[in-house]
Amino acid sequence: MADAGRYGYQGRVSDSISSPDYWQERYDSGEDRWDKGSAAPPLLEYLRTERVGGDVLVPGCGAGHDVRALARQGARVVGLDFARGAIDRARGYPAVGSELYIQGDFFSLPPGMEDHFDWVFEHTCFCAIEPARRSAYVDSCARALRDGGQLLAIFYLDPRSSHEEGPPFGVTKDELDHCFGEKFILNSENVPTKAYPGREGCELVRFYKRKPGSALQKIFSEEPGKASYSRGLA
Ligand SMILES: C[S@@+](CC[C@H](N)C(=O)[O-])C[C@H]1O[C@@H](n2cnc3c(N)ncnc32)[C@H](O)[C@@H]1O
Repeated sequence: MADAGRYGYQGRVSDSISSPDYWQERYDSGEDRWDKGSAAPPLLEYLRTERVGGDVLVPGCGAGHDVRALARQGARVVGLDFARGAIDRARGYPAVGSELYIQGDFFSLPPGMEDHFDWVFEHTCFCAIEPARRSAYVDSCARALRDGGQLLAIFYLDPRSSHEEGPPFGVTKDELDHCFGEKFILNSENVPTKAYPGREGCELVRFYKRKPGSALQKIFSEEPGKASYSRGLA
């Protein structure tokens, strides 16, 4: 909860947003304005000139539009979401390549997902979690990635939005530096020229590399004196 003190996350956060039931209700009732029926324009813009290959994890994948955009250009992509409705919706689309949808909690990575991925792609999961859990989110990204793995993220960077009510919860560049700086090196950032209508100027694309050894450091720092090399690295 150190983040809560520094950045003053005092506002009203629905108690339930950390539960899959909260999101399931939204899928059931159609209160799902985030689902635009197509991949994020900043991702498509990025993929026009860059490649995201190998094994890719998309946390909070929803209906999987971004998953399929990544799979279409040849990556093996796992879309992870803890709401059954999201996974059902994603599986309802025809397969386009090597994509897979798994129901699970990003904060408690399912077996085999630690130290495995070449890339994590973030879009509208970070802004959907309680701000006080942001450090835990960064830990999960670092754990999911293999050494040298990369994180491509579209953040909801909206200085007009405070943490008073959400989701979505906006973030500032300063907070991003604070959250990701310990485990990730920032390689580049840009404001995308393409966005869904209404999100113009509110997004920031960041490209990070995981710092070497950060998953191992995490194990040592968690259990001083009791660290076991096999735990979490198998
Ligand atoms: C705002 S929606 C965005 C979905 C998708 N990224 C999109 O843009 O269409 C947030 C998604 O994150 C999922 N989610 C929230 N917390 C999660 C967690 N701890 N583990 C896995 N999925 C989570 C929700 O179920 C929901 O589908």
